[in-house]
Amino acid sequence: MRTRTQVGIVGAGPAGLLLSHLLALRGIGTVLVETRSRQYCEARQRAGVLEDGSVALLREAGLAGRLDQQGLEHGGIYLQFGGERRHVDFRDLTGGRTVTVYAQTEVVKDLIARRLADGGPSAIEFGVSDTEVADLDSASPVLRYTDSADSRHEVVCDVIAGCDGFHGISRAAIPASVLTTWQREYPYAWLGILADVPPSTDELIYAHHPGGFALHSLRSPAVSRLYLQVDPADNLASWPDERIWSELDRRFALPGWSLQRGDVLDKSITPMRSFVSAPMRYGRLFLAGDASHIVPPTGAKGLNLALADVAVLAPALDALLHGDGRLADEYSATCLNRVWRSTHFSWWMTTMLHRTPGADEMETQLQLSQLRYVTSSRAAAASLAENYTGSVPLLASTPSPQ
Ligand code: FAD
Ligand code: DHB
Repeated sequence: MRTRTQVGIVGAGPAGLLLSHLLALRGIGTVLVETRSRQYCEARQRAGVLEDGSVALLREAGLAGRLDQQGLEHGGIYLQFGGERRHVDFRDLTGGRTVTVYAQTEVVKDLIARRLADGGPSAIEFGVSDTEVADLDSASPVLRYTDSADSRHEVVCDVIAGCDGFHGISRAAIPASVLTTWQREYPYAWLGILADVPPSTDELIYAHHPGGFALHSLRSPAVSRLYLQVDPADNLASWPDERIWSELDRRFALPGWSLQRGDVLDKSITPMRSFVSAPMRYGRLFLAGDASHIVPPTGAKGLNLALADVAVLAPALDALLHGDGRLADEYSATCLNRVWRSTHFSWWMTTMLHRTPGADEMETQLQLSQLRYVTSSRAAAASLAENYTGSVPLLASTPSPQ
């Protein structure tokens, strides 16, 4: 089946879904294809922290109904190390900036509901297979896929947006000779749990510990989200719930404080890597989000970067489709400025807080010195706060939703 659209979008994660919505607000048609089912996309447990700019973007795009009701505004974090827990006060250090705890799964649910309400059941094609992109250096690139009823489609597009995550097909469709990539693998992974128990803290706790890093986050006043640094070769079978809770107890231990336990609702292990590929455009293919760059999760940046990319991409594609290619030409450089800032911040947070297997005592002492510095020098704390809450302002201005 051969059809036409203005923008073909590969992947219905936060980047692809928000791009489809922002383009719809500008009257631009999209075909959005996704390999997974709607149910799978809505259940996938991932990030949880939105920068101020991401919240403003979602609000401006008319997507913040539930976010404004259920999102939890946080004005700082705790850094715990050497038996102490110290607060970093973002509001004070940044002139009032905050972050909002609202799960990526909720952002995705809101986006899917909105696209289907505005665009009808065909606005997102779930459960596709054999996605291909071709003719990328022509004026009419082509998106091909097989739908869940086994029909093959060919969609002729003006532009294709590759929003299909790190393992997608879009980046791989760019000739290797035009891409430069930078990569760092870390010798640790995160084991994350979702637990049916009220958080034991008012703000997130990032804990440095001789046994490894731990993070106490949350999803709601009734549900906690906790992470442990583990070996990347570990599997979930070696981490029964009791072992997870006792390791969390050990890494968060503080006199007079205890971690409340609850039923474990979800459990997963995520590898950690930094990866950047450039440029983010090849001909009429534009990459956005994890398809182009990955950060380790310690700075809570991955989701925010994905949203920021498409906030830049939507007006650039609007202009391009109306004959003005200047913003599209600047797209890659504009995004990479933010991407590299977040890549550095995420690497810095990660290496300050995790224990490198086999590392000597020198590394530990350097980490502890840095942690004492960021919790005692106002200048150093302000730098962390500025980066955590989002250091590069978002450029896009979104037409008002109807
Ligand atoms: P994705 O969310 O990956 O979406 C890409 C979509 O494309 C997926 O739905 C995928 O199924 C689809 N797709 C892939 N291939 C194809 C194809 N060939 N055809 C059609 N569709 C395709 N960030 C944080 O800040 N904190 C965290 O705690 C955190 N935890 C994470 C845990 C995991 C397991 C992972 C993988 C990431 C985590 N991240 C975290 C990062 C953050 O979730 C991502 O940066 C964010 O999801 C990026 O959004 P995206 O839309 O670019 O990509
Ligand atoms: C969460 C994830 C992060 O990577 C982080 O730095 C803070 C919070 C979370 O899932 O809640």
